[in-house]
Amino acid sequence: MSAAEHIPAGANLFELRSAVQSCRGCDLYRGATQAVFGEGPETARAVVVGEQPGDQEDRQGRPFVGPAGRVLDRGLVEAGIDRGTVYVTNSTKHFKFTQQRGKRRLHQKPTRGEVMACRPWLEAELRLVQPELVVCLGATAAQALLGPSFRITKERGAVLRLEDPWPAQLVATIHPSAILRADDREQAYRGFLADLEVAAGVLGVA
Ligand code: URA
Ligand code: SF4
Repeated sequence: MSAAEHIPAGANLFELRSAVQSCRGCDLYRGATQAVFGEGPETARAVVVGEQPGDQEDRQGRPFVGPAGRVLDRGLVEAGIDRGTVYVTNSTKHFKFTQQRGKRRLHQKPTRGEVMACRPWLEAELRLVQPELVVCLGATAAQALLGPSFRITKERGAVLRLEDPWPAQLVATIHPSAILRADDREQAYRGFLADLEVAAGVLGVA
């Protein structure tokens, strides 16, 4: 399982965004409406990596446009990071869900195999955008880049180093969806914001 053979060599972001629609690197394309590629300027200083598109993202074809995206937007603004200056993407490009007849589609976590199959797309995005900083939202995103031994509870909010596929600083935090599910949303949000402020500090915009 790998997306590698579906990625055109030498493609720019625009070409990749079109090519991802015909990716068959794992089975997740089967159930999804479309692939959701990253979005943002190629000159972005930071790349934000989420887990996978949600229901709204799957319908609209754009990352972080649903409820989690609103939490992310608020956090970025409050940390002093302009969303227009960051490139936002996901560790897997197709929505994975379960659905019982006619019911709402429920997000399902991608397996390690699916994340690794999809990683070549993320690698291609990072090599083209060449960010100074990567912000990982949640364990899936952080493990996609740093390996399965990464623990969000231990390592969130610290300035880490990414070497492969692109050398950059890396800050991980919880996923905005986890804030929406938390018993104490305000407390969860404050922790998220504190981590984003570390990211803002790396960029020198805090
Ligand atoms: N959650 C994610 O991880 N990514 C999105 O694009 C939307 C919700
Ligand atoms: Fe390809 Fe990634 Fe979609 Fe799997 S999830 S089909 S690897 S784009």
